Amino acid sequence: MKITVAGVGYVGLSLAVLLAQKHEVTAITTTERKAEKLNQFISPIQDEEIERFFKEVREGSRTLHLHTTTDKEAAYRDAELVIVATPTNYDDEHQFFDTSAVEDAIEWTLKVNPDVLMVIKSTIPVGYTDSVLKKYGVRSIIFSPEFLRESKALYDNLHPSRIVVGTYDDHRADAEMFADLLLEGARAEEQRAGLPEQNIPILIAHPTEAEAIKLFANTYLAVLERGTVGEVYNLGGHNEKTNIEIVKIILKELGKSEELITYVADRKGHDQRYAIDPTKAMRELGWAPTTMFADGIKLTIQWYKEHMDWMQECTSGDYTKYYEQMYGNR
Ligand SMILES: NC(=O)c1ccc[n+]([C@@H]2O[C@H](COP(=O)([O-])OP(=O)(O)OC[C@H]3O[C@@H](n4cnc5c(N)ncnc54)[C@H](O)[C@@H]3O)[C@@H](O)[C@H]2O)c1
Repeated sequence: MKITVAGVGYVGLSLAVLLAQKHEVTAITTTERKAEKLNQFISPIQDEEIERFFKEVREGSRTLHLHTTTDKEAAYRDAELVIVATPTNYDDEHQFFDTSAVEDAIEWTLKVNPDVLMVIKSTIPVGYTDSVLKKYGVRSIIFSPEFLRESKALYDNLHPSRIVVGTYDDHRADAEMFADLLLEGARAEEQRAGLPEQNIPILIAHPTEAEAIKLFANTYLAVLERGTVGEVYNLGGHNEKTNIEIVKIILKELGKSEELITYVADRKGHDQRYAIDPTKAMRELGWAPTTMFADGIKLTIQWYKEHMDWMQECTSGDYTKYYEQMYGNR
């Protein structure tokens, strides 16, 4: 298969190398110098496994079908699959996720090769896949969160703890095909090194769920990796709202009248206020929310609307029956 990977940072390069064991991969970068280096199999990033693979290619003991170019048009035009691994940095000053490089890759692909499948591997805000499907009026964009660690990027792709792909049912076969490609890359190195087969679970999820998995994984990783033992970190979105404000937002989003609101007496000792101040987490962990409240609440409501069976199970009492069955005798 001819695969084009946009972006050769940790994510793009490790995926390009993983897939180039079995497929013809063209990697796109923005600088000629980086392309030249990569075409001589010299790694522009510090990563033990990529450096080992490249050394073996230079010595002639390994084959990688990998070519790097700055010619976007040719690279996107000839692809049978496009993987987007361009940067998406959080703009602190304006508080938004800069996804312009992802859109550049999508727009180029749609211009020169409109029917090809695109897989976003960049970190994106929750709801982003839906927003680009709508914006470009296509169905062929799926999202797969990347969980690698810098400097262990190829190792983590060769030994993934799980593979997650987010898509709708109409592109489930494509999502499974992509998961199989990642699996094939990991298996190829296992076989070569004579290692036992790893158990790698695959999860095909709704795009928004896949985005949320990445968001929560990042949040907890930030605390685990950069937090100090004994310190407390509050993770929140800098959004204080009253209950009645939230109720009105929900009604508006559901298209229901505010006349449905009924007031009840406050219970005794009612908590007056929850005020989660994430300033310390943002300052000390470099963590920042990727979804703003106004978008997040809409996505949450949308999720409930799309999972009415789950809602019915909760409200019918089956949920409490489960707890009774599991824990009733303890
Ligand atoms: N680094 C990590 O540990 C890690 C882990 C998981 C997810 N991610 C996410 O993956 C994405 C890429 O991260 P990275 O660390 O590999 O990035 P990076 O900044 O190291 O590399 C990005 C590459 O994209 C290229 N590029 C920029 N604009 C481009 C464009 N318009 N078209 C083609 N190429 C373009 C750059 O030249 C560079 O080679 C980001 O969204 C990041 O948040 C990173």
